[in-house]
Amino acid sequence: MGTTLITGGSGYIGSLLARELQEHEHDVRVLDSLLHGQEDIAAEQEQAGIEVLRADIRDADARARALDGAEAVVHLAAIVGDPACARDPQVSDEVNVQATEALVADAKSAGVSRLVFASTCSNYGRMADPTVPITEDGELRPVSLYAEQKVGMEKLILAGGTANGLAPTCLRFATVYGVGRRMRFDLTVNEFTRELWADRELEVFGEQFWRPYVHVRDAGRAVRTVLEAPVEKVGGNVFNAGRSGENYRKLDIVEEIGRQTDKGKVSYVKKDEDPRDYKVSFDKIKAELGFETLMTVPDGIAEIITALDEHRFGDPYDPRYKNIP
Ligand SMILES: NC(=O)c1ccc[n+]([C@@H]2O[C@H](COP(=O)([O-])OP(=O)(O)OC[C@H]3O[C@@H](n4cnc5c(N)ncnc54)[C@H](O)[C@@H]3O)[C@@H](O)[C@H]2O)c1
Repeated sequence: MGTTLITGGSGYIGSLLARELQEHEHDVRVLDSLLHGQEDIAAEQEQAGIEVLRADIRDADARARALDGAEAVVHLAAIVGDPACARDPQVSDEVNVQATEALVADAKSAGVSRLVFASTCSNYGRMADPTVPITEDGELRPVSLYAEQKVGMEKLILAGGTANGLAPTCLRFATVYGVGRRMRFDLTVNEFTRELWADRELEVFGEQFWRPYVHVRDAGRAVRTVLEAPVEKVGGNVFNAGRSGENYRKLDIVEEIGRQTDKGKVSYVKKDEDPRDYKVSFDKIKAELGFETLMTVPDGIAEIITALDEHRFGDPYDPRYKNIP
């Protein structure tokens, strides 16, 4: 197997994906600007035999070096999340749109044969009927700049089909949770668990809204599944990445945390800020690629509580654990 380039490979999903691929005999190279100060992770990756290019995806020379000899690309590098994109639309356009377009064009010229694009179930936005799980061909109704950019990039990436020998696949990840090497505490399950574990008062809005969740290691396993699948099954295709039984309302998550710790208090508030409400079907990835997740949200909550009890994150409120300061 040739080299797999992971852009954003020192991030939350990327650092565990790099490990997952290495454990399965893939040669891994990482391109990451270490936006969240992950020098410790990059150094650890190098020690494990991963080539790490500390560079910006917007830099054409860096892309050329990263793509040299690569057989597959997993494109994770991004300004991630609604708040981060809304905060700096210009940089988010440069990184999430322009650099993605350039990377795809460069990958074609470099003779890369597979591209996996990290998309999101946020693309479904506010569903007309959120009680019926939406499938990959359902209507996309993004409600943020972040999701609009992902929708736009999916279109661009898939429009090329498998031209020039590059087979692209878009993976629409559910919202990720769980203990990562680069931890993120700005994601629902992780944040709620931390707040209640720390005995704080957690404010929850939109508690009845549905959303699907996937464990960070399962997200990495989904990428490996695509990379190892026959190209005819994945090229030019979109898959939701998660598990159909893992759609929850925020209320369900709060209640589950309450079953695992009696600390903290919850108050429910009304806000119109984040009107995402979607229930997603993950039947396609299971039926067509045989992919099944190993973890559930309750498992993930238990794992986070244990890691917090063991003080594995140092100060869990350190700003490096979130994508906006
Ligand atoms: N975490 C989720 O819930 C989730 C859900 C759906 C999709 N995704 C997508 O998965 C991908 C990875 O997300 P994550 O949760 O691991 O977030 P993350 O912020 O931990 O990872 C992004 C990585 O990209 C790097 N990066 C940012 N800008 C860069 C640039 N200009 N050049 C090079 N590297 C750059 C960062 O340093 C970081 O390591 C993203 O594309 C995200 O949109 C994530």
